[in-house]
Amino acid sequence: MSSPPDQLVIFGASGDLTARKLIPALVRNHREGALPCALQIIGVSRSERTSEAWRDQLRERLPEELHDAWAEVAPHVHWVQANAAHKAELASLKERLDALARDAGAEPARCGRLFYLALRPELFGPVVESLAHQGMLECPPQAVDGWRRVVIEKPFGTDLTTARDLNQQLLTFLREEQIFRIDHYLGKETVQNLLALRFQNAIFEPLWNRKHVESVEISVCETVAMEGRRGAYYDTAGALRDMVQNHVMQVLALVAMEPPGALDADDVRNEKVKVIRSLRRFSPEEVSQNTVRAQYAVGPARDAAYREEHGVAEASTTETFVAIRASIDNWRWSGVPFMLRTGKAMTKRFTEVVLNFRTPPLDLLNGPTPAGVCALRPNRLRLLIQPDEGVRWSFLVKEPGQGMVMRHAELGFDYDDLGSGETPEAYQRLLVDALAGNATLFIRGDEVEAAWTFVDAIRAGWEATDAPVADYPAGSTGPEVADALFHGCEGTWSYGP
Ligand code: BG6
Repeated sequence: MSSPPDQLVIFGASGDLTARKLIPALVRNHREGALPCALQIIGVSRSERTSEAWRDQLRERLPEELHDAWAEVAPHVHWVQANAAHKAELASLKERLDALARDAGAEPARCGRLFYLALRPELFGPVVESLAHQGMLECPPQAVDGWRRVVIEKPFGTDLTTARDLNQQLLTFLREEQIFRIDHYLGKETVQNLLALRFQNAIFEPLWNRKHVESVEISVCETVAMEGRRGAYYDTAGALRDMVQNHVMQVLALVAMEPPGALDADDVRNEKVKVIRSLRRFSPEEVSQNTVRAQYAVGPARDAAYREEHGVAEASTTETFVAIRASIDNWRWSGVPFMLRTGKAMTKRFTEVVLNFRTPPLDLLNGPTPAGVCALRPNRLRLLIQPDEGVRWSFLVKEPGQGMVMRHAELGFDYDDLGSGETPEAYQRLLVDALAGNATLFIRGDEVEAAWTFVDAIRAGWEATDAPVADYPAGSTGPEVADALFHGCEGTWSYGP
């Protein structure tokens, strides 16, 4: 018997995610020789079709530049019709997986199997239970051959209670090391670079604390709105659940965590969860003082307000924008506001982290700053995550000529300048890591629960105080009231590249 292929089993394979993200990522990985070993891809869904028909459909959705690589991948792509939540129906899947392993000359028990649940969240628990019922999840701890892992797509719960229940359901049938909870932000190159920048360089760490940093901003601004099809889902979620609980929290954790002992799954995630747990849980009164929720109205970018979108309730209070002045109560960050912001239908799409550094203790040029005047803030470090990817460091220099006139200058680095070709898509990296069993860029159960604890307190505060829902014109920088979250001379939101 030759070395066994891995088997990637995608549940919900007829959905958009498979054709739009997973298959292109796998084909790119194949083209780059990045897959850890030979791979069989098995799509599972209730709809009836042949493997050939599925291959044709997938090919049609692939960009042309991937067609040659696809021709090599396609023979290893198969379709199985099954209702995965029905225990009995998974018996035929098991038989098919075993048969495919044998066809490849391998002993089925030695094939690694990655079950990817690209399903409606209410099916996560039942499908894992069905797999367990068929004995399809059993493997020894740290198995090298014959491992069994499960990837869970977002959303992971809708609040702390549902996330906890789901964790418990999964842990009834799986060990934590077998569970890979996805947040695609962690697969983005520039998000991973936060770790590299902070911990592979010595110059940042001494400045990375309350003594030198006055505030930190994390912005995830989007121009997209409901795009006709998302309204019904989005109206049950809102920006706090859809973006803050996962993507914004993950970026915050990487920016604010302590240096881990090693860049491995346990050490990194131990430090991330500590930071998320150190976020202050707001009382309802603190929620009023430190958060703003808003919805887009008609504006230059759109002639429909959020409440007029298809699938959205007419009197909806669901937020499409949220801004939070968060506090991390630990030694490194005590007293440093973390200004978090995300919104749909904004003027520009950009994700960035900004560290605003304190002013020098003395202004030698102008003397003491008079009361009521804000001193010029010379130093900012901007970490550009998307769409432009890079780093900018600003500082003051002397304007050439007589006297001492200051102006801002910037040192910059752009990823494009590395000339290393296309930046890999988030799913490329995450699929390779899940197949290789590296969970560093996946979210651990305790992290998810800590993030929900923070977010739930904000939602509860909004409900308890009947917090106003501000509005902002679609295509703007968000509601003006969000500016008031900055105090005194702290400045204001950065407006991106
Ligand atoms: C998804 C959210 O998780 O992330 C979407 O559900 C959002 O609402 C998307 O648009 C943003 O991802 P990206 O990679 O485009 O920044």
